[in-house]
Amino acid sequence: MSAFLSISEVVKDFGASAGGAPFRAVDHVSLEIAQGEIFALLGSSGCGKSTLLRLLAGFETPTSGSILLNGQDLVKLAPHERPLNMMFQSYALFPHLSVWDNIAFGLKREGLPKAQVSERVEAMLKLVQLGKLAQRKPHQLSGGQQQRVALARSLARQPSLLLLDEPLGALDKKLREETQIELVHILKSVGVTCVMVTHDQEEAMTMAGRIAVMSEGRILQVGAPRDIYENPATRFVAEFIGNVNVMEGALAVRPEKIRLGRHLPPAQPLVPLNQVQGRVRDIAYFGSYTVYHLQLPSGQTLKVSQSNSERHPDDTLAQGDEAWAWWSPSAQVVLTR
Ligand SMILES: Nc1ncnc2c1ncn2[C@@H]1O[C@H](COP(=O)(O)OP(=O)(O)OP(=O)(O)O)[C@@H](O)[C@H]1O
Ligand SMILES: [Mg+2]
Repeated sequence: MSAFLSISEVVKDFGASAGGAPFRAVDHVSLEIAQGEIFALLGSSGCGKSTLLRLLAGFETPTSGSILLNGQDLVKLAPHERPLNMMFQSYALFPHLSVWDNIAFGLKREGLPKAQVSERVEAMLKLVQLGKLAQRKPHQLSGGQQQRVALARSLARQPSLLLLDEPLGALDKKLREETQIELVHILKSVGVTCVMVTHDQEEAMTMAGRIAVMSEGRILQVGAPRDIYENPATRFVAEFIGNVNVMEGALAVRPEKIRLGRHLPPAQPLVPLNQVQGRVRDIAYFGSYTVYHLQLPSGQTLKVSQSNSERHPDDTLAQGDEAWAWWSPSAQVVLTR
């Protein structure tokens, strides 16, 4: 993979000028991002995601380290000189301007000839399917429509790099899920390289080709969604991405990789299984799957998730029932830290 965006050993300290000890918001971050990639920075609140994005955009200056875009040193450029665009969580649409004028704003300011502004705005409206609403003001749009206007405005100047800070943060869950896929289609059709920030692991997994998991200013692991989910390197990553059972000896098993029943399956000599017996303590029904909490003799609780593929299974487990849980050794992951 050839790096299009190359971030190396970037550090950002805040507050050193105030006399106190500086606070390190970004701690020796290095990332290589390829052209056309959709890359997600994922981590909990305060871990430094927005700060890293703001360093890329030029709203903050790194304490040390370098940022290259297509071989060009970004740190030397003022924000408006950088061939990129950042879309903020709040969208910051101009309330008094129509959809059309919101999208045209940056193009006009750039001094693009009128005919070209028109052409570009129409293309963007088509891309985000808002042609019919071009004359509306932002307050006359739904949250999802506003989000699309903000996206169209960010893409209008054809940036080489698009930075999205919590792009769907203002939308409710259902709309958010629909918009995730739509947004990926739009980004891919334009081919723009995109670094997005989210604290929502499902969103990162749905949208991004690769994810960097951040904690306390540091990158803990970088990989495709499946890599990170199936082979988490650390306990933090395993627990942050989805649900996991961490057993003694730092073995991790995902709840959906465990089977549950009143009886163990008939032994197969060539397929050794890990097995434990326990008592069903809690049952949480989620529609497409059910999560069982199995109380083990050791005192540990094992989370087991079973898909509800049948509508009326004959022998469902109830609270208080004795049950066996079993899983294949290949379902286990050894955590290094
Ligand atoms: N200008 C600043 N001065 C001092 N500290 C700051 C400044 N900006 C951010 N920080 C601190 O740096 C840390 C990282 O902040 P950042 O905004 O990058 O977090 P985040 O990962 O985007 O979190 P969230 O998910 O809540 O948006 C936080 O502890 C924050 O308080
Ligand atoms: Mg943030």
